[in-house]
Amino acid sequence: MNQDAKEKLKETLYREMMAYDAGDPARIQHFVKVHSFAQAIGKAEKLEEEIQFILECAALVHDIGIKLAEAKYGKSDGKFQEQEGPAEAEKMMRVIGFEEAVIERVSYLVGHHHTYTNIDGMDYQILVEADFLVNYFENGNSADTIQKSVEKIFKTKTGKEMAETMFFPKPADLSLSETWAQDALQDLEDFIEEQGIYIRQ
Ligand SMILES: [Fe+2]
Repeated sequence: MNQDAKEKLKETLYREMMAYDAGDPARIQHFVKVHSFAQAIGKAEKLEEEIQFILECAALVHDIGIKLAEAKYGKSDGKFQEQEGPAEAEKMMRVIGFEEAVIERVSYLVGHHHTYTNIDGMDYQILVEADFLVNYFENGNSADTIQKSVEKIFKTKTGKEMAETMFFPKPADLSLSETWAQDALQDLEDFIEEQGIYIRQ
């Protein structure tokens, strides 16, 4: 399948997920953010094209099980989401016309995205990282809690950098050394001497 066809499928999935969550802007904005972080991390980590495609599709539908879990059990715990999500994702993706192999992997990721043991691929790892980046903010977790969680769960360089930039940035070093003025003057004198420039005093 060529890149254009994949882009079309992704766009359709994006709009179908919006329609699925109609009237619930928080949920829509959640998956839009998770998709955007997943896409950016995947690209920076140079994922193979097919894995990147699977990752992005999984990010769009990862929480599709919440609605059914709430309707059936009145709860949307990770366990119920993982239980209800895969069949819903498969149904939506089949109607749109995704290939079976893609549907199968996306469905697996939807069914495991709250399980952090046995992460078996970069698509899985990055989906989990992107979801955490959004959830830390949406849950209002403290910087300290976030830092500990990132150390435990994050593996990609890009994901770690994004977490650090957003939640616990290193303070920029703006201090000047005690001898900055003399140092600057010395540098200038060295430069002049090097260039053989004559300055009339
Ligand atoms: Fe999520």
